[in-house]
Amino acid sequence: MPRHTWTSCWRSASAPRRLPDQPAASAVIAAAGSGERLGAGGPKAFVQLGGRALLHWSLDAFAEAKSVGAVVVAVPGGAENRVPDGAAAVAGGASRSESVAAGLARVESELVAVHDAARPLVTPELIDDLVEKLIDRPDAAAVIAAAPITDTIKRAGEAHEVTETMNRDELWAVQTPQVFRSAALREALDTDPERIAAATDDAMLVEEAGGKVLIHPSSPENLKVTTRLDLRIAELLLAAREAG
Ligand code: CTP
Ligand code: MG
Repeated sequence: MPRHTWTSCWRSASAPRRLPDQPAASAVIAAAGSGERLGAGGPKAFVQLGGRALLHWSLDAFAEAKSVGAVVVAVPGGAENRVPDGAAAVAGGASRSESVAAGLARVESELVAVHDAARPLVTPELIDDLVEKLIDRPDAAAVIAAAPITDTIKRAGEAHEVTETMNRDELWAVQTPQVFRSAALREALDTDPERIAAATDDAMLVEEAGGKVLIHPSSPENLKVTTRLDLRIAELLLAAREAG
């Protein structure tokens, strides 16, 4: 995609939506991590952000998305009762993909939107855009949110010696939500435990299984809260959004 279209392409098109009357997708929210890098002394999903648990921001966005019906949240074992009514709770696994698999076991719909609770700035528009695009593309197994890279990326080998400067036009910083055909994701997750544990996103497993994965350009504002600094930035962005 040419660079000049980027700033407009992650805003929802003004064209009317062509979503089915009934919600086409379910959602699985991965919220079972321990949040070690945040260092808040408890699971990241329940850390306070703008006066409420980090998880609640994502739950609100999915509740508002027209394309999504049932929502399943994978939380640390024992924290199931901390998931609000309106969403189902399951105990997550040792790795992110295992948590997603635990949630997926409860999904009955043909499409599933997988999202990290660590991305509280997700919007209902982005979720609906992703589902709509997958419905429009029967040849694809998944549509994933991703932001254009703005840094120059280099590859370096031994002693930090640069071996290559990557072509930035072809690189994307991948986010969630990632919307899948549920059968394709189930099949991709049915692989050996080491591969599952090593997967940094679910689309990677679908790609490895030969499925076509499409990128949907989205805003870098849909950031992932990993550190204290991210939490602070998310708080400022959400406050600005709430202020209109
Ligand atoms: N996650 C999960 N199950 C796991 C590990 C991670 O559901 N076993 C979820 C997290 O809750 C988070 C998302 O996957 O929403 C992305 O993971 P990450 O940002 O790494 O969160 P944590 O694993 O909680 O953080 P850390 O790696 O710093 O411990
Ligand atoms: Mg982690």
